[in-house]
Amino acid sequence: MVPPASIKTTLDMRSPSRHSLYDSHTIQIGSMSTLMPGKIALCQADSLEPGQMTRFEPAGMDPLLLINDGGTFRLIEDDCTHAIASLAEGRLEGQTIFCPLHGGSFDIVTGKAKSLPCKHPLRTFTVAVDDGVVYLA
Ligand code: FES
Repeated sequence: MVPPASIKTTLDMRSPSRHSLYDSHTIQIGSMSTLMPGKIALCQADSLEPGQMTRFEPAGMDPLLLINDGGTFRLIEDDCTHAIASLAEGRLEGQTIFCPLHGGSFDIVTGKAKSLPCKHPLRTFTVAVDDGVVYLA
């Protein structure tokens, strides 16, 4: 189990105007949220249903977006590569995520930009699921 104290909903005070639409969906991860050495616990696997996604802010890292892709977890950077927008506020269709600001899209498996105005890929990250917990590996 992930200790409740290690994951909490917070307001991101670094740039309030940018995050005002999705503050309630942001989960900030503290540096002590490691249950497995070398890995950062993100959430309970059963807390994210297929087709759902949630934004995380691991300490010292850019925001990440965890997506339950039909039972397989995908982890990509949350910030659109075109301008300033959180993909957590976007629309997920299959394995394509659409940016809420200008409608560009990305492949959630490879991070590749799929439609304009997005041209640059998103970073993707390795996820591990162990004992019902999703980790940034
Ligand atoms: S900010 Fe994402 S498509 Fe423009």
